[in-house]
Amino acid sequence: MLIVIMGPPGAGKGTQAEKLAKEFALPHISTGDIFRSAVKEGTEMGKKAKEYMDKGMLIPDEIVIGIVKERLSKPDCSAGVLLDGFPRTVEQAEALDEVLDELQLKISAVVNVDVHEEELIGRLTGRRVCRNCGATYHLKFNPPKVRNICDHCSGELYQRSDDTIDTVKERLAIYQKQTFPIIEYYEHQDLFKNIDGARDIDAVFADLADHLKKTKD
Ligand code: AP5
Ligand code: MG
Ligand code: ZN
Repeated sequence: MLIVIMGPPGAGKGTQAEKLAKEFALPHISTGDIFRSAVKEGTEMGKKAKEYMDKGMLIPDEIVIGIVKERLSKPDCSAGVLLDGFPRTVEQAEALDEVLDELQLKISAVVNVDVHEEELIGRLTGRRVCRNCGATYHLKFNPPKVRNICDHCSGELYQRSDDTIDTVKERLAIYQKQTFPIIEYYEHQDLFKNIDGARDIDAVFADLADHLKKTKD
């Protein structure tokens, strides 16, 4: 089962993908997480990626496509995968189709977590992430049991450098311009399902899981 989870910044892609990956036993591939790891490790690619991410801009297609292609070729992806944050441009969507053709895989479903803009701003500016295991929290909507400490691994929580109000606004504008058009790309292929993401985390998850259980392969 190959699932693409899409939606604007802060819609809950990562939160839902973490739960769906457990439910359906699929590897969770988040391009944002891949780039944040590269930044943390201080690799050349990480240094380049940080410049784009801190401005709220997308990383150039050829870099992202190369990384995803390599990741999808690993054996753990042969039975399925959950893609979070990729594709994000029409060029990336087309490249994904080509890569999947080569690997003899195909997309089972594209789910779009739909949330309005004011809600997204509140979610992003209140987000906190574990420095150690990457678990996601929210100061108000999903707080840790102990302030600033991860429930799972006792790691320290931090605020992503692109979660400041100005960068958030830039990310939302770029989403509208560059990512929103791929909805049409998938609607034409009959793969697309819109999910109302402006509800609590468990309600959104129940809907997503329900839809994906009905999806074959
Ligand atoms: P990426 O990391 O993918 O960021 P994003 O798309 O902006 O999305 P987020 O991760 O911010 O939000 P999310 O939808 O995962 O929400 P979350 O579950 O955390 O990309 C970052 C950057 O990397 C990009 O800007 C770009 O530079 C680069 N990049 C990555 N992929 C790329 C690509 N393919 N091409 C080019 N560049 C790329 O939830 C958000 C908050 O809300 C959390 O605090 C959470 O606890 C809370 N929350 C979640 N669900 C709910 C709910 N139902 N109710 C209340 N609160 C909720
Ligand atoms: Mg995310
Ligand atoms: Zn943790």
